[in-house]
Amino acid sequence: MANVVVVGMQWGDEAKGKVVDYLAQDADYVVRYNGGNNAGHTVVLGDEVYKFHTVPVGVLNEGVTAIIADGVVLDPKVFVGELQGLRDRGIGAEKIKISRNAHVIMPYHRSLDLIEESSKGDGKLGTTGRGIGPCYADKVSRTGIRIVELVDPQRFRTKLAWCMERNNRLISFYGGEPLDEKEIYKEYSSCAEVIAPFVADTAMILYNASRECADIVFEGAHATLLDIDHGTYPFVTSSHCVAGGACIGTGVPPTMIDRVIGVAKSYTTRVGAGPFPTELTDETGDRIREKGNEYGTTTGRPRRCGWFDSVIVRYSARINGVAGIALSLLDVLSGFDTLKVCTHYEIDGEKVTDFPTDPTVLDRAVPVYEELPGWDEDITQVRSFQDLPANARRYVERAAHLIEAPVCMVSVGRRRDQSIVLDAEMLQM
Ligand code: IMO
Ligand code: MG
Repeated sequence: MANVVVVGMQWGDEAKGKVVDYLAQDADYVVRYNGGNNAGHTVVLGDEVYKFHTVPVGVLNEGVTAIIADGVVLDPKVFVGELQGLRDRGIGAEKIKISRNAHVIMPYHRSLDLIEESSKGDGKLGTTGRGIGPCYADKVSRTGIRIVELVDPQRFRTKLAWCMERNNRLISFYGGEPLDEKEIYKEYSSCAEVIAPFVADTAMILYNASRECADIVFEGAHATLLDIDHGTYPFVTSSHCVAGGACIGTGVPPTMIDRVIGVAKSYTTRVGAGPFPTELTDETGDRIREKGNEYGTTTGRPRRCGWFDSVIVRYSARINGVAGIALSLLDVLSGFDTLKVCTHYEIDGEKVTDFPTDPTVLDRAVPVYEELPGWDEDITQVRSFQDLPANARRYVERAAHLIEAPVCMVSVGRRRDQSIVLDAEMLQM
């Protein structure tokens, strides 16, 4: 039995969904612990593509209970839509549980997200516009609406009236259009009816499950460098994305976590604004974007692309205490004559090997590269490490050496079976 956290090691979109799905085949619980529908987690089974924003990807496995835990912010309309989408495709969603403590994303959060962004001029973060930041702000200000209140009509009515007054004032302050309370009450009350049967004390469920030796996968959303504390603030999201967030966001004590698996892309991408030392704004960047289909699952935005940055991933390995790394999208790098890997930065003439999270320092970081020979072969059908072209093996081995952590899986395609397992024990539940 094991409790395993899966965490993103760059700026998101590392194919965490695929790794979670892989582990979920043998798991009893899959738990989302942070973020909201700013996440976009994709699972490909045969020809079927499943995209998740709010529901844990584990729901695809019959025996799995999918938990939306305390640290998540839930958009009721998005949840209801996703639920319907699953049912339409014949996927039983009865085993979803939603924490009573999770906060609710309301329409005024979305309005504020968009208005605040547009008021920032050059300082825009490039948020997903899903209301994530304002919802977490309400949570921390102790003015948010929780699931337990949403599903209690009386409490919801009273709380909503109070919240609407406050948030409409804020919207007006920014010159936006105040929202209609009655309409929102009606719409969200009907969502609440759908949601109510799923609401539970998820911390208790997980605690009991752990004591009964259940296997639990914690599905991290976003990534280490988007973490509110350990990321490239202010160019971050508003939740605790690091592995430690699995405890904060679920109520599961740290002593019950057995292992952390980090997921890193074989190159680097970022959506939205903020520093990105190895970014390629040239043809090579475009080539990676097209080959890797690097367009946002949530917003469709083209992702910024660049070479693999070992400074970042080494930092993430440290912050998350990863036991092993799943290196994803290696197939995208087929066909390049040479590949570059950033070993360290030069900042103000000094060699820097430890990642500085301060954006003003990062803006001055010049990546120092090592060049590795590429490979031409299509590797999407390769299933064992030994069968990879020698230069691909060298690339993976060099990355692992620079990150100072072992690679336990290499992904060579979107489908579940397009995985090369280097350390089966590490991936065992
Ligand atoms: P997954 O789970 C990539 C980025 C946004 C923006 C910043 C803040 O799919 O890896 P927010 O809407 O969260 O306030 O936006 O964070 N961002 C992500 N980028 N993948 C994600 O999730 C992201 N979640 C947030 O692009 O720069
Ligand atoms: Mg994504």
